Amino acid sequence: MEKTKIILVTSCKGGVGKSTITANLGLALARSGHRTLLVDCDFGNRCLDLILGSENEMIYDISDVCEGRAEINEAAVTDRRSSNLLSIAAPYLAPEQHDFSVPDREVFRSKLFAAGESMNLDYILIDTPGALGAPLELAASAADRALIVSTHHPTALRAADGTASALSSLGITECSMIINSFDPDSVLHGNRAGVIEMIDRAALGIIGVIPYDPVFAIGGEHGELVYQLKCRNVIAAFNNIAARLSGETVPLFTGFKGIKRKKLLKR
Ligand SMILES: Nc1ncnc2c1ncn2[C@@H]1O[C@H](COP(=O)(O)OP(=O)(O)OP(=O)(O)O)[C@@H](O)[C@H]1O
Ligand SMILES: [Mg+2]
Repeated sequence: MEKTKIILVTSCKGGVGKSTITANLGLALARSGHRTLLVDCDFGNRCLDLILGSENEMIYDISDVCEGRAEINEAAVTDRRSSNLLSIAAPYLAPEQHDFSVPDREVFRSKLFAAGESMNLDYILIDTPGALGAPLELAASAADRALIVSTHHPTALRAADGTASALSSLGITECSMIINSFDPDSVLHGNRAGVIEMIDRAALGIIGVIPYDPVFAIGGEHGELVYQLKCRNVIAAFNNIAARLSGETVPLFTGFKGIKRKKLLKR
C-alpha cells in the first residue's frame, strides 16, 4: 500500500471556506474510492462536525486520542454518505472557555502515521484555523503538503501568499491554491481577479476553482454536503480537485456548465 498522504487545508485568513472544502473534498475523494480521514485541528472553533452533520456522533476528539483516552479508530466517526470517509473532531470548547491547549506534536504525528497504516487510509485531510499559531504548527508537523484556500478578493490573495511563506518556514513547500467562492460574472465585468491573474499575484499553482453557489452555502448550514444538493458546477469542481490531487490530468473547469472558460482564463 502507498504511504498515506497527509494534507493541510489552510489559509491564515478566516472564513474563506477551509472547513467546507475539507468536508466536501473528503467526500469527493471517498466517492472515488480513496479511504479518507478528516481531522479537525481548529482547536478554538470546532466546526467540521457541524458541516458534516455528525455533531451528535462525536464522542471523542483528537486530544482524547493524543492524550490516551481513546484509540484513533474509536474516535473516528464513519460518515453516513460513504464508508470510505471518516472524521475526528477537535475538542469542544464551551462558549465561556477561551483557552485551549494543543497536543504534543510528536504524539500527534505518530498517531496520524499509525492511523494511516492501521486504518488503511489513502488520505488524511487536516482542517486548520484561519490564523497562524499553535494549531497550524501542530497540523503542519504531520503534513506532506498544503492546499491553500483563497477567494478572489485582494485580502484573501495576500493572506494566501503569507500562508505559503509561513508554511515554508514550517517545512511545507508543496503548496497549491484552491480558489473558492469564485464569481465568474465579477471576473467578466473586470471587478475581480481571474484565474491567471491569481496565479500571477500569489505565485502559487492552482489545483481547483470552486464557484460561489448560494445553495451550497445554505446546505452547508444543515450538515449537507454538495453531492446532496443541486450544485452542478460545485460538484464538478470537487470531482476535479479530487482527481488532480490523485495525479490525474484534468482541466480546471471540466464538467462546468455556463462558464465561458477561455475568457476567465485570459484575464
Ligand atoms: N463555494 C462556496 N459557495 C457558497 N458559500 C460558500 C462556499 N464556500 C464556503 N461557503 C460558505 O462560507 C462560509 C465560511 O465557510 P467555512 O466555515 O468553511 O470557512 P473557514 O475558512 O473554515 O472559516 P474559519 O476561518 O472560521 O474556520 C460558510 O457559510 C460556507 O457555507
Ligand atoms: Mg473553519
